[in-house]
Amino acid sequence: VMIDKGNYRHYMAKEIHEQPEVIGHTLSRYLDLGAKKAKLPDGAAIDFSKLTRLVISACGTAFYAGLIGKYWFERYARLPVEIDIASEFRYRELPVSEGELALFISQSGETADTLASLRYCRQHGLTIGAVVNVPESTIAREADVVFPTIAGPEIGVASTKAFTCQLAVLASLAILAGRQRGHLSDAQEAELVGALAEAPGRAVQALKLEAQIERLAPSLARAKDLLYLGRSTNYPLALEGALKLKELSYIHAEGYAAGELKHGPIALIEENIPVIVIAPHDSIYEKTVSNMQEVAARGGRILLVTDDKGGEASGLGHKDRIVLPEMPEILSPIVYAIPIQLIAYHTAVFMGTDVDQPRNLAKSVTVE
Ligand code: G6P
Repeated sequence: VMIDKGNYRHYMAKEIHEQPEVIGHTLSRYLDLGAKKAKLPDGAAIDFSKLTRLVISACGTAFYAGLIGKYWFERYARLPVEIDIASEFRYRELPVSEGELALFISQSGETADTLASLRYCRQHGLTIGAVVNVPESTIAREADVVFPTIAGPEIGVASTKAFTCQLAVLASLAILAGRQRGHLSDAQEAELVGALAEAPGRAVQALKLEAQIERLAPSLARAKDLLYLGRSTNYPLALEGALKLKELSYIHAEGYAAGELKHGPIALIEENIPVIVIAPHDSIYEKTVSNMQEVAARGGRILLVTDDKGGEASGLGHKDRIVLPEMPEILSPIVYAIPIQLIAYHTAVFMGTDVDQPRNLAKSVTVE
């Protein structure tokens, strides 16, 4: 297959814009919209019902997808998750027992540390599941059960569409696990499936924010440091936002759980350090508002990524705001990933860095 940039300036831009379509393709393998049920993709058989925990390992952006998955498996399936970055996991000698399930998440399916973690679990008799984008990859071949993402080839070094497709898979599997473990009623499952099925349409709406985000880029590009804050499933998204910005624009950025602000990073707050707060008006929103007030009281400059309700309730007046439509909670990390990607992309483009091939980075890290 010929892969080109189409009408886009960079592969990354093209891949960001492909998300409504590829999230839809991926979800079609995991959701039965007629029955309003989560389903397993063809060829995959897995039983979550007897598990006492789920072990997840991955690197980089795929690891952050796994971290979001942890919240979902615990919330919707009452399944405890043990998750670690693969470079730590492979050496930490986690006690495991035969029959447990381990899940490895990888776009390329070739990342050396992730593969080594997989082999550790294989040696100890675990069942190996892999969420992978490249079906003929080593990780896919060595897994017992493959959960494909249908993102298509991803060329930009910084992962975008593979990430949101990984989230689509993990959300679907968490719903499935919730049913298998008897924690979701038919009605609850139907509601979650219906919500998840809205992801492609919501992604289209998120992409419409691009022009506004592009206008914010010059002021972000002046910063030497940036903070990203979020809670719950938007906490890993804060980590991902900071990673994307570092990778692409070379601006130093850190992601923090909003509640952890007062345990350190608040010391950094001043007007030259923009604070990007990812806070839809969800069940934990009020807690994040108090963190924002702590930032505002110290002269910090907030860029709030939220929805209509969250914008009004923030008490921040008309500060910088990126406003998405309101949506069910399970959707927010998938959809909010798009403005987060666009912030990093446009800041980098404004600064003139090599967006598709950032310095010192490789698309797939096949050596340790
Ligand atoms: C590299 C890439 C990242 C990616 C990570 C994991 O660091 O630059 O974008 O998230 O590897 O790659 P994988 O192929 O295992 O998802």
